[in-house]
Formats: sequence, C-alpha cells, structure tokens
Amino acid sequence: MARVLSGIQPSGSLHIGNYFGMMKQMIKLQNSSELFCFIVNYHAMTSLHDGDELKKNTIEAAIDFLALGLDPDKSIFWIQSDVPEVTELSWILSCHTSLGLLERSHSYKDKIARGLIPNTGLFIYPVLMAADILLYDANIVPVGKDQKQHIEITRDIAGSFNNTYGDIFVMPEGEISEETAVIPGIDGQKMSKSYGNTINIFDDEKTLKKKVMKIVTDSTPIEDPKDPDKCNLFSIYKFFAADSMLSDMKERYLKGGTGYGQVKNELLDLLIEYFKPYRENRKQFENDHGEVRAILKKGADKARSVASITLKRVKEAVGINY
Ligand code: ADP
Ligand code: TRP
Repeated sequence: MARVLSGIQPSGSLHIGNYFGMMKQMIKLQNSSELFCFIVNYHAMTSLHDGDELKKNTIEAAIDFLALGLDPDKSIFWIQSDVPEVTELSWILSCHTSLGLLERSHSYKDKIARGLIPNTGLFIYPVLMAADILLYDANIVPVGKDQKQHIEITRDIAGSFNNTYGDIFVMPEGEISEETAVIPGIDGQKMSKSYGNTINIFDDEKTLKKKVMKIVTDSTPIEDPKDPDKCNLFSIYKFFAADSMLSDMKERYLKGGTGYGQVKNELLDLLIEYFKPYRENRKQFENDHGEVRAILKKGADKARSVASITLKRVKEAVGINY
C-alpha cells in the first residue's frame, strides 16, 4: 500500500483553497492508502512570531482536519514539532543541499517580492519540508500546484544523498490534481493565508457573506453576456456546484441577464450548505480539546516510531553514530 504524506501550515485559519487543494484529497486517501498527515508548526514559524497565535492556530488546524473527516484510526495524524527527529534530519540534509538549489525557490523569491523580511528559516524552508517527507519514507505527496517546486527540491536532495551514501531515502512523487491546482482568492490572486484574500472554511455566516460579496469581478452590466472562463467568481462557484448546476450557470453567464450579485448570493448558499455537516462536527471537537490532544499525542507516537528508524539509518550512513 502506498504511503501518502502531506502537511499544512498553521499560519492562519484554513481556507477553501487549502480544502480543495489538499485537505479533501488527503481525507479521501485515508481509505485507500497509508496516510500520514500533519500540522507543520515549525514551517509556520518562518512567518509567524506570536507564540499564542501559533499555539492557537495549531490546535485549530488540527480541529479543522478532524471536523472535515480525517479519521485518526485510519491515519497517522500529528503535530510536526512533536517529532523532534525532523529538525535533526533537517540539519543533516542542509549540509547536503546546495545554496543554488534554494536560491532558485519561487516561493522564497515570491515572499521577498511581497515585502516579507526573510529569516534564515524561510530560506531553508524547503530543506525542512524535504526532511518531513523523507523521514517517513513517503511515496506520494498530494499538494497544490504552488508546492510543486518544493517536491522537486526534495527529490533533488534525496537523489544526491542516495548517490553519496547508497539507497537511504525513498524517492517521493508529488501528486497535483490539475482541476484543483490553484483556487483563486477573493481578489483573483491565488488564495493564501499570507495574502489576506481567503474564504475560511469555518468562518461564521456573517463573515462568509462579507467575503463572498467582496469577490472581485469585472463590471459587465447585468444584461450583457459574461465569460465564465475569465470570471474569478465562477472559478470559485465551480467547486461547490453539482454538474447540472454548473452547466446551467455557464449558460446563464453566456446568455446575459444574471448579475454578479445574484451569482454571489447563490454561491453563498452553496458554501454554507456544503460545510454545514462539518460545522456540526467541529463543535464537538471545540468542546473537547483534551480529546484532540490525546489524538495528536497518539499520532506523534506512531510517527516517531517510523521517524526513529529512518534517522538511525541516516546517521549510520553519514557517520554521526559512534
Ligand atoms: P497558504 O498559502 O494559505 O499558506 P499553505 O501553504 O499552508 O497555504 O498550503 C497548504 C496546502 O494547501 C498546500 O498543499 C497548498 O498547495 C494548498 N493550497 C493552498 N492554497 C491553495 C490554493 N489557493 N489553491 C490550491 N491549493 C492551495
Ligand atoms: N510547504 C507546504 C505548504 O506550505 C507545507 C508542508 C510542509 C508540506 N511540509 C510538508 C507539504 C511535507 C507536504 C509534505 O503547503
């Protein structure tokens, strides 16, 4: 059975881009693969320097996953920092990663271009991600398109390490679903916690309404035909509508007579309906943080038992065991 692994940063509330880009696939895969799923709080620390906030986001992200259907009996679910072996492996890998490889990282360059003052952690972020993946001998890593290069970097690091020391690491493959590759935010750019353009999965109805109404569209008048393929609002609507509704909406766009305000109202109804059952589940976990912590602890113990075997193999290869 293939081992599938992926992680998510608790750098803010989880949004529908995270859900359709990664979480939904992961939750589905728990039925057909050996699933490793974790909250990468060390990664979030590259951009979040508020201890209380990081702590809160970490537990909230775990609750989101559980509420959305991640089953801890069918998967290994934990918090990255509860397996300290990952930082040890990250150091070892960083000594086998060329500077040039990291300098070519789009994600790093993009964050700097947006004005983020980079710390060293942000620069070596892909090395820690490689450690996350290689430590658990993952075969498949489902992620959104924005993470494609990070997977390539992981493969580069694993390849050159294996060339030097023999077959130490399993070579992982990225799995990027094309139709959900990039979900736009309310401003039309990629939806991202760091761009302030998200629709969060568990926002209350009032906030959801505010965000949906803010989705940027062009100013084509109500009566004129509109191009669904160029419409940000339609791109989001697509994820929530059943096939028949979608083709109907497409027709209404092309025919004219439907205003964006109307589409937004319909989207809002669909959105609320879509996450309704999960909202109910979430209440249960919100009221029982003790249970959530117990689940995470159990997951960390299982993850650690896998991690320690890989780390031992690596340390023996590089000569750190004595
Ligand atoms: P963010 O950009 O909001 O901080 P993360 O980097 O934590 O999101 O991403 C977590 C997962 O969700 C990754 O697999 C990522 O590819 C996916 N993801 C994030 N935003 C989107 C999006 N707008 N469309 C598709 N997938 C996304
Ligand atoms: N960099 C990923 C993101 O921002 C999160 C991540 C960290 C990850 N470690 C990972 C994803 C390991 C997959 C596997 O989305």
